[in-house]
Amino acid sequence: MQTFHISGGTGQSKLLIGQRLEALPEHVPEERLIILTDERVSGLYSSRFPRAPVITVGRGEEAKTLDTAGWLYKRLLELEADRGTYLLGIGGGVVCDLTGFVASTYLRGLDFAFAATTLLAQVDASVGGKNGVNLDGYKNMVGLFSQPELVLCDLGLLPTLSGEDIGCGLAEIVKHGAIADPDLFAFLEDNAQGALQLDPAVMERLVADSVLIKSGIVNLDERESGQRRKLNFGHTFGHAVEKTTSAPHGEAVSQGMALAGLLSVRRGLLAESELQRLLSLLWKLRLPTGIDAPVEEMLQALSKDKKRQGESIRFVLLQSIGEAVVESIPLREIRQAALEMLA
Ligand SMILES: NC(=O)c1ccc[n+]([C@@H]2O[C@H](COP(=O)([O-])OP(=O)(O)OC[C@H]3O[C@@H](n4cnc5c(N)ncnc54)[C@H](O)[C@@H]3O)[C@@H](O)[C@H]2O)c1
Ligand SMILES: [Zn+2]
Repeated sequence: MQTFHISGGTGQSKLLIGQRLEALPEHVPEERLIILTDERVSGLYSSRFPRAPVITVGRGEEAKTLDTAGWLYKRLLELEADRGTYLLGIGGGVVCDLTGFVASTYLRGLDFAFAATTLLAQVDASVGGKNGVNLDGYKNMVGLFSQPELVLCDLGLLPTLSGEDIGCGLAEIVKHGAIADPDLFAFLEDNAQGALQLDPAVMERLVADSVLIKSGIVNLDERESGQRRKLNFGHTFGHAVEKTTSAPHGEAVSQGMALAGLLSVRRGLLAESELQRLLSLLWKLRLPTGIDAPVEEMLQALSKDKKRQGESIRFVLLQSIGEAVVESIPLREIRQAALEMLA
């Protein structure tokens, strides 16, 4: 078990990595606690929740809307929630984002906590203080920055995740190592099998290091400009893959990281041998390294990206494993690299 305290511009959070759900009552108030979760997490784990009223939302991205938030405000009113109420979200990134958003806006702000139950939520969504909901199909259109008091990551919940959901978390861990931590990257190279099998000791290190990397970057730059951009490694192109195919987030980001790696080599920033390390780690983690999406459609989607500047787009590249740089890349260079990487 590892405990960290991280501070962001909008508050302090305590992080418990490798702690079980059963420990929650030691860390959250017994009185005036309300739990928010989704149908699947409730079906699997509600017998292990602290004793408190539970509000259950539907599953997945479709549930992360302003309508759901409105519905949640009404449930809170019915439960007579007041400024002293403490909201605990138990679930993946969707439940964490909804909990943070609703808690921060209901009565201008309640204290809140997350028990992150997906690998993606443990290594990414629960850290950094961003929350929000989708609007008319546009992701994370409405939201704010505010820190949970507590984030608990029970690694024993991971084995019930689907392979796709595990891949989503693993892709973000590769990203963290690639942009900021050569030791984490090397540890994952040595322990790829253990990671795929969700070995608790391996996962504890991967989750703890990821959380420290993300919170470190976010603390330097909570409102996103220089440093925080590096967290977009693999994501600019990954979002274009997601828009044009049905690839899950982890597979899309994996393709995006492979492309960014190739562009880094083509620009003379990254050694070919380092690119091979990146590709072979993704491959060992059963994540795709070839591009499997319509290139012209993807470039169309990319050219609508908010990071575009004229015919170029701001892209996160690697200088070495563990060191990222942001560069402006012409769309034709991206096309060329994408065509080379067609699966
Ligand atoms: N706030 C941030 O900084 C940030 C960062 C990254 C992602 N996100 C958001 O996170 C969301 C994606 O998160 P996610 O991938 O966790 O999705 P999710 O919350 O939809 O969870 C994926 C699926 O796994 C199920 N699930 C959750 N825990 C489980 C468990 N232990 N066992 C079995 N099934 C379980 C859920 O019910 C859901 O069906 C997106 O909405 C994204 O925008 C936010
Ligand atoms: Zn991501």
